[in-house]
Amino acid sequence: MLKVQVAEHRGFCFGVHRTVDTVLEATKHFTSLYTLGPIIHNPSVVNMLEGRGAHVAHSVEDIPEGSTVVIRSHGVSPDVLSQLHSRSIKVIDATCPFVARIQHKVEQAYKEGKIILLVGEPQHPEVQGINGWCRNTAYIVQNTADVEALPALENVCVTAQTTTNQEYWESLLAAIQARFPGCDVYPSICSATFERQQEAVTLAQNVDIMIVIGGRNSSNTQKLYKLCCGYCKQTYLIESPEEIPRDIPYRDAHIGITTGASTPAWIIKEVITSMCDIEKNEILAPETEKIEVEAETPVAENPATIAPAAEAEEQTTEADTVQSIPSTGEGEANFVEDFEKMMMPIRPGQIIKGKVVSVNDNEVCVNIGYKSDGFIQRSEFSAGDDVNPRDVVKEGDEIEVEVLKVNDGEGNVLLSKKNVDSRKYWKDLVVAYNNGEHFTAVGQQAVKGGVIASINGIRAFIPASHLDTKFVEKIDTYVGKSMDVVIIEMEKGRKRVVASHKNALLENAKREKAAKWESIKEGTRVVGTVRRLTDFGAFVDIGGVDGLVHVTNLAWGRVQHPRDVVNVGDEIEVLIMKVDRENERISLGYKQLKPKPWDVATSKYIPGTIVTGKVVRLVTFGAFVELEPGLDGLVHISQIADHRIDKVESVLQPGQVVDVKILDVNPEEHRISLSIRDAMVPKSENDYSPDDYEDSYDEADDDIFEVAEDLDPLA
Ligand code: F3S
Repeated sequence: MLKVQVAEHRGFCFGVHRTVDTVLEATKHFTSLYTLGPIIHNPSVVNMLEGRGAHVAHSVEDIPEGSTVVIRSHGVSPDVLSQLHSRSIKVIDATCPFVARIQHKVEQAYKEGKIILLVGEPQHPEVQGINGWCRNTAYIVQNTADVEALPALENVCVTAQTTTNQEYWESLLAAIQARFPGCDVYPSICSATFERQQEAVTLAQNVDIMIVIGGRNSSNTQKLYKLCCGYCKQTYLIESPEEIPRDIPYRDAHIGITTGASTPAWIIKEVITSMCDIEKNEILAPETEKIEVEAETPVAENPATIAPAAEAEEQTTEADTVQSIPSTGEGEANFVEDFEKMMMPIRPGQIIKGKVVSVNDNEVCVNIGYKSDGFIQRSEFSAGDDVNPRDVVKEGDEIEVEVLKVNDGEGNVLLSKKNVDSRKYWKDLVVAYNNGEHFTAVGQQAVKGGVIASINGIRAFIPASHLDTKFVEKIDTYVGKSMDVVIIEMEKGRKRVVASHKNALLENAKREKAAKWESIKEGTRVVGTVRRLTDFGAFVDIGGVDGLVHVTNLAWGRVQHPRDVVNVGDEIEVLIMKVDRENERISLGYKQLKPKPWDVATSKYIPGTIVTGKVVRLVTFGAFVELEPGLDGLVHISQIADHRIDKVESVLQPGQVVDVKILDVNPEEHRISLSIRDAMVPKSENDYSPDDYEDSYDEADDDIFEVAEDLDPLA
């Protein structure tokens, strides 16, 4: 494994990160978007942003009026801002706050009448921008010769470009202070730059090979490179992974990596991947030109910090491992983790988690944290029947996959989600089987003796005798059909499953029946359908189970046969009177939900009115006439005819329909007095006397009613 040490201060600095984020965000909101100059010194990032709609303008005139422009971290002069405003260009100022602070300081000093000395590169955009804030009056110095050449000045204020090398700044400042004693000093070197340079020096002292990644046009990258060259003879400046030198014995070397402030973390990742590939002889690319270490280095200016190469080697760790130091930079929190994953070998059969990068109808691309993304073909996607990956996953989803092939010949990793799903389903299936659960099976193929079905992608056999509760003539009608099944046999070793639809149906019916019985509560009313009539009552279906309405519970009066009250097919409301779950018997009441005849007798049968009734019984003292089922009245012998009779049967016969006058209704004693005689010769209302009703019962002996009560069906 490679021995690589990556600098802690790597990738974008705070200001660059902030600027790139600003541009990225702006691409979401503005269609005509520009940056004034390349946003950073990194062509790949600039190209990436260009691809998202952020175009590079090299001057204010290049930007169409009404567009939006992002000011890069270097900042610009107030003149440039005015030009932009005059062209109605919307300005998003992403000047690094550290640079903005210098601009502000310089503007203030200028207003106070001070002379500005600016240490930096005259052509650098940051320096030009800062100079603009003091009306371009600053003296820009790069070396002691420039300082010596300055005219006599008073009221001097000194500051520097943010990326100036600290040691260089200190030595030059000493020269400036010697020439202009008492000058104001505004230290402005960015700590990010300073720390990065310090760490690069330390790293360069301790490694065999130093790789500096960054743009060749980047001032801070150039400075890093020069610094490292002073401590490590094999220092290379590269802009991209393609420039990695191929003639280095990576396997035995200790390699240090640092980056300029404009280098994104993903380029570091790519460089390390490429080095790994070279080390494994997986890539045989042509050699790239070695960058010669420059003779002139700033090392000579500070010998105290230089360690001889031999000493440096002694300090090198012997650990045969990749060393990386936790990042503190925003956006790089996952770098170490990603890096370690990338270095981790993968093997066929390995189960790993990945993030969906893209999906189409036929394949899914997954980032598995490896140097290459993995692909799941549609046939390897789902354990179930043919499934369109788009219907199941989307970009950003995390899924578990199995590595099928590390390299399909074109550098792609082949993955299977199906295998992972199948294992999981089988495991779930075993648990569910042990719990007696039901499954959904889809018939796939009719075979001899049954049907092959799929339970979540797992093959199961359903014997013909288990396809239904009835005999099945055509088993192929079950192909394509979704069925509720239970597993009746399972061989875990061979992953063999035998299932039954019939057993599932029977279990369901049993469960439904049990649930129905459970829901049947005594004393409740239900609506049911009369299914069958017998001499002793009517069977009523109350929702899957039948109950019996006994003939005596059909009506309040006497019922010869149930058909006199209900017919097959009638929907009737019944009362659940008794439930015998053990013997599965339910007693229902029909008449119980009807009013009792005696409860309404007084309102229905008004004394003095004439109604029709049927003679139902003859006794020596008179005849009982049924006014309606359950409601009989007595016609005393004296009220049968308009003349005296000796025997009731000489005038009346059972079954005879007669008109009777209501003489009296006594619901408490269940007595109604009737008169046929009065019905025959109705009295006028004036002739009518309530005493007449009393007479009727007075004439009957009390025993009569005792006899009558014995015969009363409601008693
Ligand atoms: Fe700003 Fe320092 Fe970076 S000044 S742009 S944070 S190097």
